[in-house]
Amino acid sequence: MSSMWGIDPGLIYLNHGSFGPTPLMVRESQREWSHQMGANPQEFLSRRFEGLLEETSKRLAENLVTVGDNLIPVENATQGMNLVAQALPLAAGDEVLLTTHEYGAVKRLWQKRTQARGARLVQAPLPLPLESSRQVVEALLGYANARTRLIVVSHVTSPTALALPVEEICRAARQRGIAVCVDGPHAIAMREVNLSRLDCDFYVASCHKWLSAPLGTGFLYVHPRWQAEMRPCIVSWGGTTCGRPPSWKDEFLWLGTRDATGYLAIPAAWEFLQQYGLEKFRGETHDLAAYARERLLSCLRTEPLSADSQEWYGSMVSVPLPDTVDVPKTWTGLPHPLQTRLAEQYRIEVPLMKWGHRMYIRVSCHLYNEASQIDRLCDVLRRLL
Ligand SMILES: Cc1ncc(COP(=O)(O)O)c(C=O)c1O
Repeated sequence: MSSMWGIDPGLIYLNHGSFGPTPLMVRESQREWSHQMGANPQEFLSRRFEGLLEETSKRLAENLVTVGDNLIPVENATQGMNLVAQALPLAAGDEVLLTTHEYGAVKRLWQKRTQARGARLVQAPLPLPLESSRQVVEALLGYANARTRLIVVSHVTSPTALALPVEEICRAARQRGIAVCVDGPHAIAMREVNLSRLDCDFYVASCHKWLSAPLGTGFLYVHPRWQAEMRPCIVSWGGTTCGRPPSWKDEFLWLGTRDATGYLAIPAAWEFLQQYGLEKFRGETHDLAAYARERLLSCLRTEPLSADSQEWYGSMVSVPLPDTVDVPKTWTGLPHPLQTRLAEQYRIEVPLMKWGHRMYIRVSCHLYNEASQIDRLCDVLRRLL
């Protein structure tokens, strides 16, 4: 499998969750689009570009059970979340509610946005270990009130790799008239995403994670009830390049001249996983993550973050490191010295995350990973710790 991805054969790559490599077949698809663009850039960018983006969004939408018109192509989830922040009307005293498991840059964005508006950011802890959806929904919604304008919740969390019950959260929020933005970069391909059933207000994702599309590909789903509210972060022509009738997306498609060949290769990434079998991919990578979890918990002698079930984690698992491992006081973005040592001395790429007052090790399992790599990681950790 690893030869289908072109991964360095001497490397143990356990970090698909941060930066997923792209299978060679998908890179080939992107190259083919680049050739077409190079053959006649004028035709490609001014006459075909918009139609190609729309066709790709339509095919992406079919896998997410929505319609292409509800999707805006973005470079990544960060860009999508910024568009949501730009659209959400926030007044002094309003609140935005997050879980304490949200991604660092997402917390920072909402911190800045709420501060600028005189609003408040509220972060809800969840009961650990996660065992029941009802507990999670009650814990989160327990922090909501009449001033809560938006809940931001990860479909699969970054530092703790937990799959949250987003359907139940959306249902409970709807009953209270609160909008929900689901932060979904880890869920695309790893979990079933049915946007019609979810009925959230916004869903943002990067396709370069578990779907393994090229870097710089993502989408923002906007429910029709919000489409008229959307405002661009980048102001460009704001119109159509090919003469179609005006659309709510006019401000979001042409963002200055850019290379969208990665986005056009998204269907090839779905095809790669569908050829393997999407359910088979999910099942096998979860089984390997479950193996990693069991091995790490027993070698590190720490406690799990959830019950042992595919309901609570998929192809990625996060396990607390012993409290003897140093925790940096402030997170500078620099890798932890132990992470650097694993990479440089043992050629194991695996992220160590600070969450709360503890360090966690997060292991991603994609199709090119195998149990012997987990065994090697555990042997090395045992030696180093
Ligand atoms: C939960 C979550 N949200 C948002 C992001 C940001 O994704 P990107 O860097 O692709 O914008 C990440 C990245 O790891 C993430 O894990």
